[in-house]
Amino acid sequence: MRSRINYQVYTTAVFAAIGGFLFGYDLGVISGVIVMSKFLLVFGDQTSINRGSLTSSIAGSIVSVMSIGCFIGALLAGQASDRFSRKYSILLFSVIFIVSGALQAASFNLSILLVSRLIAGISVGALSMIVPVYQSEISTKEIRGRLVSFQQLAITIGIAVSFWTNYGTDLYFPSSNASWQIPLGLQIVPAFILAIGIPFFPFSPRWLMAQGRDGEAFAVLSQIRSCSQRDILIEYNEIKQEIAAEHEQSIRSYAQLCHFPLRRRLILGIGIQILQQLTGINSIMYYAPEIFKQAGLSGQRAALLATGINGCINMLATIPAILFLDKWGRRPVLIAGGILMSLSMLTIGSIMGIHGHTLFNSTTNIAEVIIPSQTASYTIIVFVYIFVAAFASSWGPTTWLYCTEIFPLSMRAKGTSLTTAAIWATNCLVSFLVPVLLERLTYGTYLIFGIFCLIMAIIIFLFYPETKAHGHSYIPPKNTNLIGQTIVITGAASGIGRVSVVEFARLGAKVIIGIRGQERSEEIAQELEREANIIGMNRIIGYNLDLSNLMTVKNFADKILEHEENVNILLNNAGIANLSHSLTVDGIQTEFGTNHIGHFYLTKLLLPLLIQSQARIVNVSSIGHCFIENGINYDLSSSAYVPKVAYDQSKLAQILHAFELQQRYGQQGIKAYSLHPGLIHTGITRSIPTYFASIYQLILLIVGKSLYQGTQTSLYCSLSDNAKPGIFHADCKEAKASPLAYNIKLAEECWNFSENIINEKPKFF
Ligand code: BGC
Repeated sequence: MRSRINYQVYTTAVFAAIGGFLFGYDLGVISGVIVMSKFLLVFGDQTSINRGSLTSSIAGSIVSVMSIGCFIGALLAGQASDRFSRKYSILLFSVIFIVSGALQAASFNLSILLVSRLIAGISVGALSMIVPVYQSEISTKEIRGRLVSFQQLAITIGIAVSFWTNYGTDLYFPSSNASWQIPLGLQIVPAFILAIGIPFFPFSPRWLMAQGRDGEAFAVLSQIRSCSQRDILIEYNEIKQEIAAEHEQSIRSYAQLCHFPLRRRLILGIGIQILQQLTGINSIMYYAPEIFKQAGLSGQRAALLATGINGCINMLATIPAILFLDKWGRRPVLIAGGILMSLSMLTIGSIMGIHGHTLFNSTTNIAEVIIPSQTASYTIIVFVYIFVAAFASSWGPTTWLYCTEIFPLSMRAKGTSLTTAAIWATNCLVSFLVPVLLERLTYGTYLIFGIFCLIMAIIIFLFYPETKAHGHSYIPPKNTNLIGQTIVITGAASGIGRVSVVEFARLGAKVIIGIRGQERSEEIAQELEREANIIGMNRIIGYNLDLSNLMTVKNFADKILEHEENVNILLNNAGIANLSHSLTVDGIQTEFGTNHIGHFYLTKLLLPLLIQSQARIVNVSSIGHCFIENGINYDLSSSAYVPKVAYDQSKLAQILHAFELQQRYGQQGIKAYSLHPGLIHTGITRSIPTYFASIYQLILLIVGKSLYQGTQTSLYCSLSDNAKPGIFHADCKEAKASPLAYNIKLAEECWNFSENIINEKPKFF
């Protein structure tokens, strides 16, 4: 992985995150302010004053009017940030925020307060869209999750600071208007810092290039990256190519978002933001003191204190996301978060339902939940905290990040502006409905959110692709040109073999693929030429090859020897697993016969040409070989057959094969490698026993790789000068193999055994 991380990128992302702080502060401050007695006197109507708290419609309007503003702001921000740049748009909306903050603090009636909160909303909504886009555009893909999570951390810090400010002013100025004016006015300070500071930070290099300001973009990249000039040039060229491709497809207007291929992304983006709000997070963020009162905490101050703690938990629980989101990926985090949130909400609702008594207070006109059991009320509070922690480390940061990742550069601002508008529209609806629901359904509200959270986890599992940058990518040097080279790949009909063919063909190589059935192999060769965008160039050639039938292996090799002058890479990629016991056409146990003997024979037949071409031989093995402890059991009869063991043995044999090839032919210019591609959902998993299938799915979900990721180590061993001949690799580097993998005696024994088999077999032809 190239190191391009510079402290400047971090500083810029952290500074821009002040926008997130404003978002959080403005969002959190209102929950405490609306329950203050002085606030009630200024903004409440007679009914509110009589009952001692704002009516749900007034409270709902004060809270949700800001979300309406946010909705408008998010829509405006797409155009603004494309036109005026990301950074000047941040400046513009910070200034608007300052004005609205002053107005809020100086409000003396409900209408002025509502208007000023609407204006505040416009800037918060705009900043909530522009900041993550700016952060993701200055970042490198390896740390994008982390940088965008700074925005969420800042939101949570904003919320926590606002909670504690409310607590403090309520404590020190209980009978003065300062109790609500200070919290509302204080938000001007960070907005002022953001407005003054942002002009000193760089433009987004991607935005600059989209404007044709390439020279400035290159200068910015040189300033914010600590890597070599060459790597900066690579990144610069990547962005340039991306922009050129988008220009070709004329992806520019909002209308494009409604058509293939952007429509699906827009639906995913809008969907995930709506779902984020349906978790019910803001039922807690906006109405936390009310909820803690419902949970049995008596007294205004106790509820505010519990809310303050809540804010801190929200903030601290965002830190794991900053540290691990880039590592774990988006999907597992969203699914795990959804499940945990669901369990918490269902527990809160059930305990309230079982232990609480709902009383209708005719003086206040409100349904109140009384929970006589202190244990029950504390358990509820603990689960509220667990819910918030689960949200903060999963859905909180991830949905914002996800939306910046799904759109191409030219549509990022416009696309994200729509997804952000969607979150605010839902936020508005939820914030308006929650007080009503809490009043009418009481504990049922939490049960509903609990069910939503579970459904969301399922939706993510079924429909949302992973957007994390491809881990451990092998990026061939920019000038890699395989024109004139011939590459032979087995198992190219599907899975990582297929992706490898496309990658090699794109780099200019002629690729010969071995697939069962002559007609099928020709068809797939054509399909792959289309995928690689080289249709009609005859650079991918399909021949019949069935590795479980040594006769076809011989025919396949003969065709290559007859037509090719060189073979520069032999990628022994095909593999089968977990079948019930069976024998190959030649009477060899099927896994061993196909995965190892078939490839052993093919390599042997091509060896003269491989030596002449100074070729690389790459065996796609598996980490599963580590389960073999006592060497290979060459008695491959059915009584000794255990599917997993048969597979793992064949994979150990492939590693020993590469090791021994290196020993025997290294001097003659051969370089042989073995590798583990990673856990990938490919055809090979089809035959996994049903009882294990769901567990395996879960494992794949957590540590699994995409097909593209799974191809990377094959590319690395085939092309990189850093790959180590004779050695086992994984994740584009040398990997820990079983001690048996480099056992000289075992390697020789396996070689001799395999050679005996293929020497005996000619009688079958
Ligand atoms: C959400 C807000 C929420 C906040 C809580 C954000 O990601 O969009 O609605 O209040 O997280 O920390």
